[in-house]
Amino acid sequence: MMSRSPRILVFDSGLGGLTVFREIVRARPDATFLYVADDAAFPYGAWREPDLVARLIDQIGTLIAAHGPDCVVMACNTASTLALPALRARFATPFVGTVPAIKPAAERSQSRLFSVLATPGTVARDYTRDLVRSYAGDCDVTLVGSARLAGMAEAQMHGEPASDAEIGAEIAPCFASVTDADGTVRRTDVITLSCTHYPLLLPRLQALAPWPVTWIDPAPAIARRVVQLLGPGPAHSLAGEATALFSAGPPGPEVVRALAGFGVDCDSKASAR
Ligand code: DGL
Repeated sequence: MMSRSPRILVFDSGLGGLTVFREIVRARPDATFLYVADDAAFPYGAWREPDLVARLIDQIGTLIAAHGPDCVVMACNTASTLALPALRARFATPFVGTVPAIKPAAERSQSRLFSVLATPGTVARDYTRDLVRSYAGDCDVTLVGSARLAGMAEAQMHGEPASDAEIGAEIAPCFASVTDADGTVRRTDVITLSCTHYPLLLPRLQALAPWPVTWIDPAPAIARRVVQLLGPGPAHSLAGEATALFSAGPPGPEVVRALAGFGVDCDSKASAR
């Protein structure tokens, strides 16, 4: 455990990682945070796997060299389910990843019918399919790869919310039902938010759901993992700084305001590269 306050790099393709950041900052308010959005490459969900691994190694390598974080939080399922082994092999800095909460979903589902709402990249990964095989063998699991929902979350943060019909169409495939041989009808009762952008839309997802379900946001579990790694921090301390950088260059005023709502300053002149 370290005696000074840690420097934590939180990385995502866009603003979704803020849903992870807000839990980590609650757990280690004394830490200094750098939030990096690789928005020049958004959405990661559409990238070819080898190209995305190469981009992540390049981006993370540059950030580690420039900022020397004590820990990198990969606040992106699409990147974590693909590139964590390659990143860990390449860099000595510890990584905390974000991966679909399939074990918790299987533990919580009463109907044994749950859905994984993620990007097309995440649902296609061997990593995700292995989690389903290992932890949810007795469940019917619907993997839903939405090509548009992360962009809708991003647009909402830019002050351009999608319509109810647009969001409703993206989540509709998550809601399944089966009729058993004895006539019992079972419906999806748990949905894992397996893209860090989706909790940004949670109140709208809840309002548009055709029936109530438990939505699992993995961010509190990720914050607990960070505390395991770096220690709990002092009981009383001043809040550390939190700054954001964007690979596409400084963001507009809507995003700067949204970041301020999360307690993050935006370096209006710098970009992540
Ligand atoms: N926030 C990212 C995730 O958790 C996905 C968004 C994207 O496709 O870039 O998967």
